[in-house]
Amino acid sequence: YEVTMDALVSLCKRRGFIFQTSEIYGGINGFWDYGPLGVEMKRNIKACWWKSMTQLREDIVGLDSSIIMHPKVWEASGHVGNFKDPMLDCRETKGRYRADQIFVLKHNSDESALMFAYHENAPAPAEKKIKKIAKGEVSDYSEVALLDIPLEAYDKLVGPDTNEPGTLTEPRAFNLMFKTYVGPVEESSNVAYLRPETAQGIFAQFGNVLSTVRNKVPFGIAQIGKAFRNEINPRNYTFRSREFEQMELEFFIKPGTDAEQHEYWVNERLKWYEKVGLPEGRMHRDIHEGDALAHYASACTDIMYDFPFGTQELEGIAARGNFDLTQHQNTSGKKMEYRDEATGETYIPHVVEPSAGVDRIALALLCEAYREEWINKETGEIKTAEVGVRRAPEGHEARTVLRFAPCIAPYKVAVLPLVKNKEELVGKARELFEQLSKRWKVFYDQTGAIGRRYRRQDEIGTPLCVTVDFETIEDDNAVTVRDRDTMKQIRLPIDELEAYISNIVDF
Ligand code: GAP
Repeated sequence: YEVTMDALVSLCKRRGFIFQTSEIYGGINGFWDYGPLGVEMKRNIKACWWKSMTQLREDIVGLDSSIIMHPKVWEASGHVGNFKDPMLDCRETKGRYRADQIFVLKHNSDESALMFAYHENAPAPAEKKIKKIAKGEVSDYSEVALLDIPLEAYDKLVGPDTNEPGTLTEPRAFNLMFKTYVGPVEESSNVAYLRPETAQGIFAQFGNVLSTVRNKVPFGIAQIGKAFRNEINPRNYTFRSREFEQMELEFFIKPGTDAEQHEYWVNERLKWYEKVGLPEGRMHRDIHEGDALAHYASACTDIMYDFPFGTQELEGIAARGNFDLTQHQNTSGKKMEYRDEATGETYIPHVVEPSAGVDRIALALLCEAYREEWINKETGEIKTAEVGVRRAPEGHEARTVLRFAPCIAPYKVAVLPLVKNKEELVGKARELFEQLSKRWKVFYDQTGAIGRRYRRQDEIGTPLCVTVDFETIEDDNAVTVRDRDTMKQIRLPIDELEAYISNIVDF
């Protein structure tokens, strides 16, 4: 990997992508703030998604539903009853574990279960290892905590000389929804929840949207917004947070077309990821089968990315049948049906749901973009720096660069006057800056040597630098345009600049 998490976290703080929330008070676990560059980048991710869903196609419309909804929504969806993780505290390790970190190997009786959990700071592959242990495929227990198993079984399994087993408290059901009260009185009839997903807002408005847009099935409703989960164990930087943003599409389809629509959306979404800068080689499909599928789902594929801390989910794409609409129809008593004018058929549509996390995509894009490089001063040749070697070799210069896809980069262009003490030149550069700022987020920088200014832009991932020099004002009304990745420069008439930039940076 090009980047260690330490290097990335440090760059994100130093350059203003991501800060710990309320850091001045010591922070609060599972919550993050996006700084001046992070907020631009995140807006770009959402804009690319929104454009691909609601602008470049006619069959999807948008929605912005409220974060707090009627509590019945969460009863109907199953979140009040089922959105729970049994939580256990281990007296021995003082660790707190979540259900999906606990693997029960075998239940003999109430007192004798064989359980493994991965340590809180174990790398993600520990999960795979436990599954292999469970199947008897490996017997290497490093990274794994052994919890509360009967001694004879324990002896048989790992031998009597290893660590003592820990003891666990009784599991307690723990609902992941954040609770609050609506109105001044804190009583149970006023309880409401912060939404744990944006999807239910879409299902609850299905009827209203359908009657206003008059789209025909198949059609979709897209939404971007905050979601909240009181995760027992937030970890891996922003990867698992308690407040995060989702981009969800509910694509309503004719029953029976589930498999083909599901396949279609998995492919569409993978194409989108490639377009925003996650290469095919680091993307994977995790296809759920059998027990891993919810009872109402006919298919579910997770889109995974190879993070430095392991291969992890960015998005889940599920064919959910008509479970959600049926639940809301039953709970609210309001019809959730669609009438096909052509055939006269009436049915509750099925749905395919691509559900992605903005923060996870932002993290993946940062991991992917980060590079440390050495540039040969004579030939201009660029090569990747050797891991752990700080100083560039003789005759080389080091640079840190974020090789974002241009549509994701926080700033699209930097405008740089070659010198700052020549009024006419600065005036021209300011004019250009103001012109380009009407269309894109542009950086203006006139301080320091031009090479240093290029490096600053490389480090924040700006794809193009435009330099205004003496020739611009005295001679050709053209500028030098430098490319971040190749560091090559071309001369371009100012008249052609906007079209040139647009071609490179627009999604
Ligand atoms: N409506 C379906 C749904 O919410 P999910 O798999 O629970 O499905 C979808 O969540 C996506 O939301 C995940 O793939 C992930 O990108 C993001 N997500 C879920 N929990 C998250 C968390 N605690 N922190 C950051 N992102 C999260």
